[in-house]
Amino acid sequence: MQNPIGLDALAIAVPEGYLDMGDLAAARGVAPSKYTEGLLVSKMAVAKPHEDPVALAAKAAKRLFETSGADLSKVGMCVVGTETGVDHSKPVAAYLHRLLGLPERCRVYEAKHACFGGTVGVLSAIEWIASGAGKGRTALIVCTDIARYGLGTAGEPTQGAGAVALLISEKPRLLTIEPGLDGSYAKDVNDFWRPLYSKDAVVDGHHSVQCYLDALAGAYNSFKQAAAEMDHRDALNVARRCYHVPYGKMAKKAHRHLMALEGKTEAEADESYNLEVAPSLRIPSQVGNIYTGSLYLALASLLDTEAESLEGKRVALFSYGSGCGAEYYVGEVVKGAGAYVKALKLSQPLENRRRYTIAEYEAIRQADNDVDRKPVEAPQAAQNEVAFLGVENERRVYKA
Ligand code: COA
Repeated sequence: MQNPIGLDALAIAVPEGYLDMGDLAAARGVAPSKYTEGLLVSKMAVAKPHEDPVALAAKAAKRLFETSGADLSKVGMCVVGTETGVDHSKPVAAYLHRLLGLPERCRVYEAKHACFGGTVGVLSAIEWIASGAGKGRTALIVCTDIARYGLGTAGEPTQGAGAVALLISEKPRLLTIEPGLDGSYAKDVNDFWRPLYSKDAVVDGHHSVQCYLDALAGAYNSFKQAAAEMDHRDALNVARRCYHVPYGKMAKKAHRHLMALEGKTEAEADESYNLEVAPSLRIPSQVGNIYTGSLYLALASLLDTEAESLEGKRVALFSYGSGCGAEYYVGEVVKGAGAYVKALKLSQPLENRRRYTIAEYEAIRQADNDVDRKPVEAPQAAQNEVAFLGVENERRVYKA
């Protein structure tokens, strides 16, 4: 039998400050319950100009190696999933490769498909290892994004920023993932996009919700087909479900939709939601949408809360990227994951964040508009943190 392949380590990174959703509601003249109950979000991470997608990716990846003790010199593939690229050509992964000091013998690239880009990296890494091409090496996948909609728009309360780093190996300490046991779905739709002239996303919000639900049904049907083809129907039985989380309520809607496909009523779906989904929404509700990393932020939240009791049980993962592409797959929590997750301190980055005022948040947004032409400035970040310093001679400069 082939060695198990899967997720060996996980770490998250968030910017140093956030906006409280109550403050945003007051500023926009909206009832706070619309955000906290209607969207199920309570805080929204806000990235300052020096906390660009490269800096956030490096912060998450450095934390992964520090907390897991994994060996940097064993990495043979480094993929960054992002829809907040810093260049049309040079990948975020190239900056990350240098900032981490990864080996030169390494396949390094960026994957873009809206919020689906990180999952593309994860599944490619699983297949890279399964094929034998990895030759005993590991794959580092980092999802990093800054979610931006226009000020005062319906999308504004569903912003966020952050990164999630994942290490895939053939000796996974968190989840085993079986190559090929996944369900794909794709369709050309116009639900959300980020035109080249704009940092803010353009979104047909209510249409995007429907596209997400259609993709969930499609990917789930493909998964059932794959499970039947691989004589693995037991893979449909899962203990917990993590969905892509643009905002918590979307995951609740997704769960109702999936349960309806299984013939369950809305009341039955809401009952199972508390057990199967709610633990994965704790961290996302304090960070907001981080696009590519949102599903894996949900997984971090679940493992942080329940890894020990889930050992030997299956977790379903649904990834959706507008445009659109989606995948439904499963992982099995490894024996010993509970004790190991404690050492990873997955939610520690949420501690000691600063609460911004509305005026500070709007000033940060304004500064971010011109950040890609900003001349190099003195470091603003903490001593040992990677920071984007500005542009010199057309080159992006980072404090390592
Ligand atoms: N108290 C409690 N709930 C309230 C409320 C209040 N005072 N006011 C409204 N709500 C509820 C609504 O009933 C609705 O719940 P439902 O979805 O279960 O029906 C929810 O809050 C959202 O209200 P709605 O009027 O639909 O919000 P909106 O038109 O302002 O936009 C989005 C919501 C998600 C479409 C918008 O934030 C958006 O475009 N986000 C970006 C795109 C996105 O994230 N898409 C997800 C799929 S990828």
